[in-house]
Amino acid sequence: MSKTLDICLSPAQFSLFDVKGKVVVIIDVLRATSTINAALENGVKEVIPVSSIEEAKKYKAEGYLCGAERNGKKYEGFDLRNSPFEYMSENLKGKSVVLTTSNGTRALKMAENADQVITGSFLNLSSVVAFLKEQEKDIILFCSGWKDRFSLEDTLCAGAIASKSGIETTSDSCFTAKHLFQFHEKDLLSAVKQSNHYHRLAHNGVIKDIEFCSTTDKYTSIPKWNGKSITVV
Ligand code: MLT
Repeated sequence: MSKTLDICLSPAQFSLFDVKGKVVVIIDVLRATSTINAALENGVKEVIPVSSIEEAKKYKAEGYLCGAERNGKKYEGFDLRNSPFEYMSENLKGKSVVLTTSNGTRALKMAENADQVITGSFLNLSSVVAFLKEQEKDIILFCSGWKDRFSLEDTLCAGAIASKSGIETTSDSCFTAKHLFQFHEKDLLSAVKQSNHYHRLAHNGVIKDIEFCSTTDKYTSIPKWNGKSITVV
């Protein structure tokens, strides 16, 4: 039987999906999986995702460099925000970096028992599509959303992956996401600018990140969860 692909539109629905033996792609376009991709492509050794501020504080006390974001803003007392540009710094090359964000790193930890967990964004879109085409196991694209709510930009990216991969899909979420992408394929940034998270971030003056995170195929690497951290495949 040929493999199938499905899309989980929000962490609130994740309990409906059985991830055992499957490949899960975590998607958080604005900005966690874009940031993770940028960090690893620019020489960060590994990204250690944590779900809570408390856990991040423990790593910080042990001397780790830590990025922390809540509500789209930097969490006080930590070294880094969740902007991909911050993780391109020469100072981070070869370093382990801890990251906790409102949604993306939480989704990552929720999916950690899958057969394989990788992260996807527009930045590594074609590499993720090529990787999934080579897989034999079923695939779940996991949209991180915003506090369990539907995310336009994550669904748009999931639709891009589903549409470009050509892998068999049967669910309404796949039908919807693929058509959403096909409608906006020629101008993804304009679509992303309609999203709630765009307005949340723009209100905080974060525009450059959104333009960068809405760009396809800047990178070729695939960040992968190895049971302890995320490194590039
Ligand atoms: C998230 O985790 O939902 C985002 O990455 C939040 C953000 O930094 O904009």
